[in-house]
Amino acid sequence: PPAPRSGRLIAEIKDLSHSYGEQILFLGANLEIERGDRIAFVGPNGAGKSTLLRLVMGIETPDEGSAGLGEHNVIASYFEQNQAEALDLSKTVIDTMFEAVPDWTQTQVRSLLGSFCFSNDAVFKEVGKLSGGEKARLALALMLLSPCNLLVLDEPTNHLDIPAKEMLEGALRDYEGAALVVSHDRYFISRVANKIVEIRDGELVVYRGDYAYYREKKAEESAATQAALEAAEQEAKRKAKRDKQKAKEAARKSAA
Ligand SMILES: Nc1ncnc2c1ncn2[C@@H]1O[C@H](COP(=O)(O)OP(=O)(O)OP(=O)(O)O)[C@@H](O)[C@H]1O
Ligand SMILES: [Mg+2]
Repeated sequence: PPAPRSGRLIAEIKDLSHSYGEQILFLGANLEIERGDRIAFVGPNGAGKSTLLRLVMGIETPDEGSAGLGEHNVIASYFEQNQAEALDLSKTVIDTMFEAVPDWTQTQVRSLLGSFCFSNDAVFKEVGKLSGGEKARLALALMLLSPCNLLVLDEPTNHLDIPAKEMLEGALRDYEGAALVVSHDRYFISRVANKIVEIRDGELVVYRGDYAYYREKKAEESAATQAALEAAEQEAKRKAKRDKQKAKEAARKSAA
């Protein structure tokens, strides 16, 4: 459903530092998220991607600095990494939906469930008997029921098969709000993101382009690092050679 338009600033991370014990996740990180941004956060397991989303959503409080949503009309919907586990297992699929939108008609609910790949029979299944992917689809459908102008999605494609993933890609492309997405699925990222943010050494490194642009820049960066390493190696070799020559000369002089 359409949501009211938000202010320009959707979310902001300012001088953010956050650690767990000895483990420093963020150290003076900054990021401004604006209307129209479709950001994919990338980084290895344990980099702090889920933590960052929780900080932005205000579920967790930062040690230092700040993280949070913009002040003007930002309405966020948050899909946690294990959102599907929070469903009530004893209800049926259709009752779960009706609980969220009691004034919808049977046709409306079934048509939405249909677009999330639930067949006519499947809508009467108990949630506890659904597969992992079916539960994930139901959790996504539920999230998309309420109007929002920011979607915060933590690994939404986990457990999804290819048609369900394509459905989600399509839904995100039609969606007009901003999106913050964490995913390890490169193909999915390449379809939905217009900016890539890498969590690196406690900072947020922004690549202002899609995934192809990010890969290109990363290749350039690693080529530059490689070239710098090689240059340093060459210089070290030259210096060693010069030092050897100097030593030889010194030995010759002292012999003479
Ligand atoms: N409440 C907590 N207490 C202690 N450590 C935590 C807590 N929450 C997260 N961590 C640690 O912080 C690190 C980052 O966790 P986080 O879940 O943000 O990683 P992630 O980038 O989302 O990883 P993944 O790709 O595996 O989902 C992990 O090493 C995790 O163990
Ligand atoms: Mg995570």
